[in-house]
Amino acid sequence: MNPTALQFGPGPWSSEQWTQWFFENTDNWRSIPWLLGASLSGAERHAISRSIAAFQLGESSEGKHLLKAAKLYASRSGDLDYERAIRRFIAEEQGHARVLGRFMDLAGIPRIKHTWSDWVFRRLRRGAGLEQSICVLITAELIATIYYAALREATASGLLRKLCDQILDDEAFHIRFQTERINLLRTGQSAWRISLAENLQRILMRGTCRVVWRGHASVLQAGGYEYASFQTACLARLDSILRPRSLLAWSGAIS
Ligand SMILES: [Fe+2]
Ligand SMILES: [Fe+2]
Repeated sequence: MNPTALQFGPGPWSSEQWTQWFFENTDNWRSIPWLLGASLSGAERHAISRSIAAFQLGESSEGKHLLKAAKLYASRSGDLDYERAIRRFIAEEQGHARVLGRFMDLAGIPRIKHTWSDWVFRRLRRGAGLEQSICVLITAELIATIYYAALREATASGLLRKLCDQILDDEAFHIRFQTERINLLRTGQSAWRISLAENLQRILMRGTCRVVWRGHASVLQAGGYEYASFQTACLARLDSILRPRSLLAWSGAIS
């Protein structure tokens, strides 16, 4: 594990620590074997092209609405480092878009500028407060962890498999970063409000699974999923990060 993570411990981390983490993680990207080339078979290329192009587009978001919500939150809460942490987080996602784009260029896979699912995700975040924005993001991040593991299995390309490994490592910390902030934002909220928000998150996850399956079934099937098992896996991951009841009681949120 990255020594910074060991040094900071299990968390939750402060915004300053997260900012440092994102800075240092950039340097810690394992060496990506670009010289191997894309090495995709015709069948692999056919199975992943449209799908990887859509994920590359999704990773490239400038995060304007998230940044706006984060700035507002930072000034209201006094946690001024949070804005810096969010900027570094967005930069890391854009780094994913860059390496996926470079891989696509090597493989001769054309880039795309819009997909309707990307449009829907961006609309969901527009005008939303920080908590809602993070909920939408967490949905995407959790699905990404399943997606990139499946993409890894969809190919024998050493380069693409390494890229998936690195992105999966990063996404695990993105989920932690977002989950810690959601827990903080929900501290002190009433139990019924948290329960309502969590149920809305489950509904959002179910709807997103449907959309993602439509666009990415060929890759997800290569990872061993059928629709039902994919949805079950996504919901299980969501449940694993929703705030444990014991923590709710501890924070006094249960009256
Ligand atoms: Fe990413
Ligand atoms: Fe991410």
